[in-house]
Amino acid sequence: MTKKKKKIGILTAGGDCPGLNAAIRGVGKTAIVEFGMEVIGFRAGYSGLIHNDYLELKESQLSGILTLGGTILGTSREKPFKNGGADAHDKPDTILQNYNDLGLDALVCIGGNGTMKTANMLSKQGLNVVGIPKTIDNDVWGTDITFGFESAVEIATEAIDRLHTTANSHQRVMIIEVMGHNAGWLALYAGTAGGGDIILLPELPYNLRSVCKKVESRYEENKPYSIVVVAEGIERPEKRTAANYIAEAIGTYTGLETRETVLGYIQRGGSPSPFDRILATRYGSFAAQCIADGNFGTMVSVIDNKTVAVPLSEVGGKTRLVRPDDPLVTIARRMGISFGDEYLK
Ligand code: F6P
Repeated sequence: MTKKKKKIGILTAGGDCPGLNAAIRGVGKTAIVEFGMEVIGFRAGYSGLIHNDYLELKESQLSGILTLGGTILGTSREKPFKNGGADAHDKPDTILQNYNDLGLDALVCIGGNGTMKTANMLSKQGLNVVGIPKTIDNDVWGTDITFGFESAVEIATEAIDRLHTTANSHQRVMIIEVMGHNAGWLALYAGTAGGGDIILLPELPYNLRSVCKKVESRYEENKPYSIVVVAEGIERPEKRTAANYIAEAIGTYTGLETRETVLGYIQRGGSPSPFDRILATRYGSFAAQCIADGNFGTMVSVIDNKTVAVPLSEVGGKTRLVRPDDPLVTIARRMGISFGDEYLK
C-alpha cells in the first residue's frame, strides 16, 4: 500500500519584513523536494486559516521568490484567540475544523511574538505547529536572531550615512527615528553602524538634559554636527513622534538647528539582504525537517549559531529586549556614544 503524502500549510502573520518569501520557499521546497509532501499557503495570516482561504504551492510557484520583499501569501494582524467581534469565540474552533477538513498534518506559522503566542495556543488545541521567527525588531524570545532584522539594519544604516553629509554641510543636529515600539535592537545596531552620537532606546531611561549636554559638548569640541538615533518607542508625551519630541527639545534648549527624519515603512520593504536570505532559508528548511521528524509545538531558532527547535510554550507572550549591560551598549558607551542618561538621577 502506498503511503499517504503528508500535507502541510504555511502562513505569514503580523507586520511584514524582508525574507518572508525566502522562508516560504525554504519550507516549501524542502517539504516537496526532500520529503515529497504537499504544500498549501494560507492567505493573510491567521485570517486565511479562519476563512479557509488558501492556494496550492507547487515547486514551480516557489521559484523566483527568494529575492522578493513582502510575502506572496499576504499577511494580517488577525488574532483568533483575542476576544472581540461576534464570531470571536468561534474562531479557534473554525481553525481546527478547517485544519482537519483539509487533511493537514502540520502548520508552519511565520511571524513575530504575537504570531508565536497564537501558534502556541493552536498547538495546545491539538494542531501540529512549527513556528519560524521573523521581524525587523529582532525581539522574538527564544532565538538570538530573527530574519528581517539585518536587512532593516542595512536600510537604516544607509539612511544615517546619508544624513551625516547633509548634517555636516549645514552644521545641524539630525534626529532619525527608526522602528521599534518596545525593543531598541534596530536603533542600537543601526545607530552604532551609522556612527550615531546619541542613541535612545525604549529600554533605557534617558533625560533631555543629558541629550542636550551631549550635543552642546560636541560643538564645544569643534564637532559641528550631531546625529541622534531614536527608537519610535522611547518615552515621550502622548501623540508626539519620538523624533519630533527630541528635535524640538534640542532646538529649544541648545539653540542649535535641528531636522527630523522618520524612516517608517521603508525599513520593512524591499529585497532581503544576503544574510537574511540565508537565515530565512535555514529556518525554512529546518522547519520542514521538524515536521518530518514529528517535532511539533516548537519554534525553529538560532542559539549560539546552531539551528535548534525550542518549545513554543517557552516563547509565546514574551519579548526579547535590549539589556542595559548588552555588550554593544557597553562598547558604544566606552567610545563616548551617549544613551542620554549621563545626568539621570
Ligand atoms: O513588525 C514590527 C513593527 O515593524 C514595529 O517596529 C512597528 O512599530 C510596527 O511593526 C508597525 O507596524 P504596523 O503599522 O504594520 O502595525
